[in-house]
Amino acid sequence: MAQETNLLLRILKENKGAYVSGQQICDRMGVSRTAVWKHVNVLREMGYVIESATKKGYMLIKEPDILIYDEVEPYLKTKYIGRNYFYFNTVGSTNTQAKALPENTPEGAVVVAEEQTAGRGRTGRAWVSPKGQGIWMSLYLKPDITPQEAPRLTHVAALAVARAIKSAVGINAGIKWPNDIIMDGRKVCGILTELSAEIDAVNSVVVGIGINVNNERFPEGLKDVATSLLIERKKTMPNQNDGVVDRKALLAEVLNNFEKLYEGFLKGDFPDIIKDCKKLSVTIGRPVRVMEKGGGFDALAVDIDDRGALIVKKQDGSTEAVIAGEVSVRGVLGYV
Ligand code: BTN
Repeated sequence: MAQETNLLLRILKENKGAYVSGQQICDRMGVSRTAVWKHVNVLREMGYVIESATKKGYMLIKEPDILIYDEVEPYLKTKYIGRNYFYFNTVGSTNTQAKALPENTPEGAVVVAEEQTAGRGRTGRAWVSPKGQGIWMSLYLKPDITPQEAPRLTHVAALAVARAIKSAVGINAGIKWPNDIIMDGRKVCGILTELSAEIDAVNSVVVGIGINVNNERFPEGLKDVATSLLIERKKTMPNQNDGVVDRKALLAEVLNNFEKLYEGFLKGDFPDIIKDCKKLSVTIGRPVRVMEKGGGFDALAVDIDDRGALIVKKQDGSTEAVIAGEVSVRGVLGYV
């Protein structure tokens, strides 16, 4: 959004529900009345409901459901996560955008889009990202860790999302090791962590988070495995409201929770993060199929260790630590 339009939005937001005179706006913005009118129309096109009346000026009545920084900021409590904010209406993939950010981009920058046309999931799968229905975003991080430790950020993000869903939406979510958030046996969120590194040093890590928020339905192939917060909220709280979830409050809450956990992670608190991930795990105790290149094997998921590896018990009774990013795990009894 142009800086002047942004300033107008701030003025109107400060006075939401009350008229601000055209003259006052002109004075604060240092532009003509015609220019103010043009910016009002830009905001209206974005979905802002703005009333205008002769002699009274302009009044903001209602904000649209969009994830621009100005809408998310009132809910944001972070120091640096999400403070550099790149917003797109449509983009191929927020992860691809974040990976292309210049090296001097500050840590904690975030790329957010209303819609992805080439959203990516793990193992080369596509990630369906319809306009205005979910949270499609990528965090740009520069942690001082080894490349081998980078997959741990997937666990940090998973816990942040599960906690944010609980506090902002009020529903319990589980974590399917390592990167899926699960509700009622279906996937509501996926995380894709991508690394740019030398052999022994990390340049940057991009943590992509896709949350199905207000999707009412999914394409044929996903129906049995995917769900959204709206669908789950309607099931658990049928009388409360129409189920529509406030995306901006949830997005901010994910960032708030992520920053808290990430600070701990950088200080070496990863075992505590894993302890909390284990409490929410829907994988431990389940039969799983560990998928490897050229095959796989059936086992029982028994634990997650302090490095974030899944401990599985094989049919011959031996145990094996499975590292996220190297293999994937599939439920034997259904999606989980
Ligand atoms: C998975 O479960 O396979 C991971 C899905 C990750 C999807 C998110 S949406 C935002 C970011 N941009 C992408 O292209 N992918 C991630």
